[in-house]
Amino acid sequence: MGYKISVERVKSSRIGEVDFNNLPFGRHFSDHMFMADYFDGDWHNCRIIPFGEYSIHPALSALHYGQAIFEGMKAEKDEDGNPIVFRPSKNINRFNISADRMAMAQMPEDLFMQAMDKLLTIDKDWIPSAPESSLYVRPHMFATEEFVGIRAAEHFRFVMFTCPVGAYYNRPVKVFIHDKYIRAFPGGVGFAKCAGNYGAAMMPAREIQKMGYDQILWLDGIHHKYLQEIGTMNIFVIIDGVIITPGLDQGTILDGVTRDSIIQLAENEGYLLQERDISVDEIINAYHEGKLDDMFGTGTAAVLSHIGEFHYKGENYELPPIEGREISNKLKERLTGIKSGKAEDIFGWVHTVPVGVYSGS
Ligand code: COI
Repeated sequence: MGYKISVERVKSSRIGEVDFNNLPFGRHFSDHMFMADYFDGDWHNCRIIPFGEYSIHPALSALHYGQAIFEGMKAEKDEDGNPIVFRPSKNINRFNISADRMAMAQMPEDLFMQAMDKLLTIDKDWIPSAPESSLYVRPHMFATEEFVGIRAAEHFRFVMFTCPVGAYYNRPVKVFIHDKYIRAFPGGVGFAKCAGNYGAAMMPAREIQKMGYDQILWLDGIHHKYLQEIGTMNIFVIIDGVIITPGLDQGTILDGVTRDSIIQLAENEGYLLQERDISVDEIINAYHEGKLDDMFGTGTAAVLSHIGEFHYKGENYELPPIEGREISNKLKERLTGIKSGKAEDIFGWVHTVPVGVYSGS
């Protein structure tokens, strides 16, 4: 715990301006944010300040060469009103894996946790309590070198802010399986939560959204055949009672925290689960044989979101009604129960923010 975090509080809170019964995703921001700057090989000036704009240099290297990464976590309140966060140590671990791939500075876990705990203590009243709502925590880091030549930066800024949010999707998701554009390939950055992965997906996503779909379900970059992920979520398929999700071994998909939790919950429930390649032909054959029971996505923002329909090469395939999808409904119920502190946390996933430690600062 070598880092000291200073605190400057807002003069007056904006919380009264927000309708907590109507929370679109990512549109409202709580009162404070954490910020720190990396130079001379360490993090400096660790501070919690009022949420707001800051100025940047026009030659800021992240803007030109894309060294930028982020994470997403969710805070809720347990039955005693204490802020809790779901598996934040998985997020800081993945953040540093992304940082390594993007030649960026490592964020020490103790600084990350201290910043998060302190920020959530100060802004705990911003944690919504309506079903499916939470306080989304967005840590991110970007290169701040003021230099136009191309090389790995040595200066970075880390910022963590929070947003009260409702459900990311409020109806079954319509996915478009693309046979033209590619998100990731072995040796690339598919496993990293870097801004460029999302930026490169914007144009194909905008095209399919104009056609009435929500998201692309990406195929692998070599064979254009195997499912990878949905960009906002990891993908799961249930064929004839067996849960199948693509493995992480190629380094082309994100090691989702929710993905990992669903795998562990499925195993704990005694369901058959396989982490393996799954081709688009396999799901279409299963569909025609009446064995495609379910498809769903998982992610921090999206939690477990059912897929209502998928499109491939000019054909739409409609999936069974949500109410009958017993396995995924059961897994979602267990996951949301644990995340909200209502169900027993047999895995030790829930981090309780030690408000007593930070409330005086
Ligand atoms: C998350 O689930 O945290 C993400 O970063 C994905 C995005 C849809 C918000």
